[in-house]
Amino acid sequence: MSRNPMIVRTVADLRRQVAAWRAEGSRIALVPTMGALHEGHLSLVRLGLRHADRVVASIFVNPAQFAPHEDFDAYPRGEGRDAALLGEAGCQLIFAPSVKDMYPPGFSTQVAVTGVSAPLEGQKRPQFFGGVATVVSKLLIQCAPDVALFGEKDYQQLLVIRRMATDLDLPVEIIAGPTLREADGLAMSSRNAYLDPQQREIAAGLPAALARAVERLRTGDDTGTVEAEGVKALEAAGFGPVDYLQVHDGQTMERLGPGPTPPGARLFVAAWLGKTRLIDNWTI
Ligand code: PAF
Repeated sequence: MSRNPMIVRTVADLRRQVAAWRAEGSRIALVPTMGALHEGHLSLVRLGLRHADRVVASIFVNPAQFAPHEDFDAYPRGEGRDAALLGEAGCQLIFAPSVKDMYPPGFSTQVAVTGVSAPLEGQKRPQFFGGVATVVSKLLIQCAPDVALFGEKDYQQLLVIRRMATDLDLPVEIIAGPTLREADGLAMSSRNAYLDPQQREIAAGLPAALARAVERLRTGDDTGTVEAEGVKALEAAGFGPVDYLQVHDGQTMERLGPGPTPPGARLFVAAWLGKTRLIDNWTI
């Protein structure tokens, strides 16, 4: 029978519990989230349990990674539901700090990662990775886990966090979990909840376009042509604007092409459906 996890709201309480587990000899995993949980998050908790004895999940809708015009206020919140789901998945502790505790008055520090953060999301959402790197470095310092888990759906974010953890010598292993998909291929995301039924049908066109493009790239078709035709196909399906559909190196995030796609490449897409922005990526 699953039990709802303990919820702590201060760094002192988080550290006290983690220290007690360490004293028992337990290994600790951290799954950072913004709540509004879905199977993708829960799969990270289960993966965490394969690498550690105790899984901590943080729930914090991080204002620093939203621009003023983005959906911070509208972002779905529901701690009771999230806690029950985390408990069923085997998480034993939730860290859910307030904005005031995470960013007290006078907070002035930002963790900025260059290189892998520059293209794609970094270009379209200039505040995003600074906010993510800052909050994730705080969470890793606060919790001091042995491992921390992040989903490949946010692949560029994963690379930014890996870079940050390496550069700051944080003693944590960053582990990637595969993207979980709905039956029609749509990558699971908290933001899918914004889609109305008609948009939800159209949304399945995103992974379909991605799959078609990847297939062509694998057979050696020209990168630039496949990208341009992929954008056109998404627009014809009802998406707009398409922020990007581009091939980048899966480690350095360097832009690849034109010409046939070299090994190690990944295709990235971000496109709008009404007011909802969907992202996805696929290895080539
Ligand atoms: O991917 C997310 O949910 C967030 O960007 C993260 C990593 C929890 C940081 O706020």
